[in-house]
Amino acid sequence: MRILITGGLGFIGSNFINYWMKAHSDMIVNLDKVTYAADYKNVESVSKMSNYTFVRGDIADKNIVNKVAKDVDLIINFAAETHVDNSISNQSPFLRSNIMGTHVLLEAARKYDIRIHHISTDEVYGPTNLNSKKKFDENSRYNPKNPYSATKAAADHLVNSYFNTYGIKSTISNCGNNYGPHQHVEKLIPKTIVNTLKNETVPVYGSGAQARDWIYVGDHCRAIDAIINYGKIGETYIVSGGNELRNIDLIRKIINSLGKDPSSVIKFVKDRPGHDVRYALSSSKITRELGWKPEVPFEIGLELTINYYRNKLDRSVNI
Ligand SMILES: NC(=O)c1ccc[n+]([C@@H]2O[C@H](COP(=O)([O-])OP(=O)(O)OC[C@H]3O[C@@H](n4cnc5c(N)ncnc54)[C@H](O)[C@@H]3O)[C@@H](O)[C@H]2O)c1
Repeated sequence: MRILITGGLGFIGSNFINYWMKAHSDMIVNLDKVTYAADYKNVESVSKMSNYTFVRGDIADKNIVNKVAKDVDLIINFAAETHVDNSISNQSPFLRSNIMGTHVLLEAARKYDIRIHHISTDEVYGPTNLNSKKKFDENSRYNPKNPYSATKAAADHLVNSYFNTYGIKSTISNCGNNYGPHQHVEKLIPKTIVNTLKNETVPVYGSGAQARDWIYVGDHCRAIDAIINYGKIGETYIVSGGNELRNIDLIRKIINSLGKDPSSVIKFVKDRPGHDVRYALSSSKITRELGWKPEVPFEIGLELTINYYRNKLDRSVNI
């Protein structure tokens, strides 16, 4: 296969490229705009391989997308603006990359009859109560509550509308919070690790009671692999690590495992406006239909992640 991967210098996209190129000899084209969230080092180990090509460009740019897409068999769309805080202060890049960009990719998929897998988030379902027994599944109502999740929801609707209207070969996955190597230090787990290692404080929004469902990025990559190989066209698959943690418990766990006292590291700060209190997901469909389930226990995944950031700091790599 020839695969166009968008956003492949970012966290999940780069993990996916490394994962895929270890197991397959497909031609990979990585189209990335190289925003602040991108890092060429994330794909260092594959960048010299003859079946890997990098193209710097914006998925919202029709000319470049048509040029790189016309010869591929599959598009996997990881490219997006992803930080909720940034979406609250400036929405425009989110609308452009997450909505307009997805539209341009869908048009290319339609024009050249290319299969497309779109990477989305559990945040499109919005929050649920901390004590609720209910978990979101693929039939749950979309209820995005911040500009980031609203743009991701819009993109998902566009994908489904293209399947319904034009019969394009699309699939979507909605995944919980990923953690692992290559994540930008603006995000919760890397920030907690790096700040603690640097003897800086770790900011916690509000009381830290918000709960998230955490999945090791490698397990997410395996889920995408399963969907590409066995997923049914037109379907959505929720991908959950089955590992819900309140932010405050997660942060304390990380600080403890770094040998520090959480009470001297944590600094409670004003909550993010409209902060979703909890996401809760069920991935029973992908387990039942495609045989996928998460494999990396949280303690192991966290150790791998801590080692990754510790090594980066030890090598004085700018993070
Ligand atoms: N990180 C998570 O926990 C998580 C969870 C569920 C879903 N997702 C989704 O997974 C995808 C990847 O997330 P991530 O955490 O790896 O993001 P990231 O911010 O680490 O990386 C995004 C990458 O996309 C590139 N990019 C941004 N806009 C672009 C554009 N217009 N054209 C081309 N490239 C562009 C950036 O340069 C960067 O390399 C996103 O669609 C995100 O919504 C992420």
